[in-house]
Amino acid sequence: MSAKTTIEFDPTAPDQQENPFDVLDLARSEQPVFHAPRFDLWVVTRYHDVLTVLKDHRSFSSLGALKSSPAPYPPEVQSVLRDGFPDMPYIIEVDPPLHDRIRGLVTKAFTPRRIAELAPRIEEICIELLDELAPAGEADIIHRFAWPLPLRVLGELFGVPRDDLERLHHWAQDWMLVQQELPLERRLEHARGSVALQRYFVAKIEERIDRPSDDLMGALVAAREEIDPPLSVVEIAGLPLDLMVAGHVTVTRAIGNTLNRMFSYPRLRDHLLDADVAPKAIEEILRLESPAQGLFRITTREVEVGGTTLPEGARVMVHFASANRDDCVFARAAEYDPHRDDVSKHVAFGKGIHFCIGAPLARLELEISLPMLLRRLPGLRPGPVAGEREELFFARGFRTLPVRWDA
Ligand code: HEM
Repeated sequence: MSAKTTIEFDPTAPDQQENPFDVLDLARSEQPVFHAPRFDLWVVTRYHDVLTVLKDHRSFSSLGALKSSPAPYPPEVQSVLRDGFPDMPYIIEVDPPLHDRIRGLVTKAFTPRRIAELAPRIEEICIELLDELAPAGEADIIHRFAWPLPLRVLGELFGVPRDDLERLHHWAQDWMLVQQELPLERRLEHARGSVALQRYFVAKIEERIDRPSDDLMGALVAAREEIDPPLSVVEIAGLPLDLMVAGHVTVTRAIGNTLNRMFSYPRLRDHLLDADVAPKAIEEILRLESPAQGLFRITTREVEVGGTTLPEGARVMVHFASANRDDCVFARAAEYDPHRDDVSKHVAFGKGIHFCIGAPLARLELEISLPMLLRRLPGLRPGPVAGEREELFFARGFRTLPVRWDA
């Protein structure tokens, strides 16, 4: 390892949003665990070190797993957040034993059967969206398809009215962006959106306590007594909130990233249209273009990882996307190859106790929607202007992706 190499890591810089991989390649070979002073983050980049962190939740706590900024919220932002539920726990950001209780509740209600039953509805929602879209010949595919699809699916699953989805989509962006270093005015706006999102779900859970329902929110409420000790209203409300956010923004990114890749790899279109190859091609794109590039942990003690000793209280970014391109694990890691036999090792859905609960649903949505989209929008190609990347610190995806097709 060369102590002199400086790793210029800045996921907020436009060039690294476009291409985060060169910096990470350099880090894996020169400084596999490096400190990024500007963000006060220790970034873990090699596959085996990433697994070490993900499997050791005692030394690497998930508190603040979504918070990319080291600074506490500015007082003005805190004051807005106090109007919501500042202590609402989110499954992705809690450790055992609370994590076990919350995850236990979801696995009771979000069963493989409930997910499999969604397949025909996913198809119908795709048809609805594509019927509206097809005659136009051009559109921003993110706005017209990539986020409405997963959000409508989750809306039906949780029993959220269709008319509420657009504002939930905007509040979801607020909820993620409030955790990031941004100008105060913007952070205040994101804080207001986050509070609105929390209040929305608390009200929905209270409604279901008074009037039981057979949607997933109703099932969570019904199952809460089976958890010992039972979860409070605010603890339960964090769940649909987290699932609705985590479950739509990630699938949105996966759709956008796959289409964008396809524009430069025409073979990918054929693979997505071939029912035998499509699932492998989708897995391979998740590996190469991981929608959650990395998330955060805090060390609970002094701990060594990849030959580097981290102090107690260190903020760690566990870099899924970098691990997914580690040549020590994936042969010719930077190349797209749907037939590779090592793809199942990818960590785009994480590993360990926080492994993605929605992975089966995400795969189902992608496997149904992408071939339908390509059949219904023949000749799909880039639009007149380039897409804009998302600005979220840990995300790889598009905010807009204009496309054209033969109407
Ligand atoms: C392509 C789509 C998706 C990707 C790439 C993805 C990625 C991830 C990753 C990397 C984690 C681990 C977080 C960590 O270790 O800190 C995670 C956790 C999680 N995901 Fe996903 N996800 C996707 C889709 C979904 C869907 C569709 C849902 C819900 C319907 C969902 C719900 C969750 C939840 C609730 C957690 C937290 C689990 C826990 O903390 O125990 N995700 N996801």
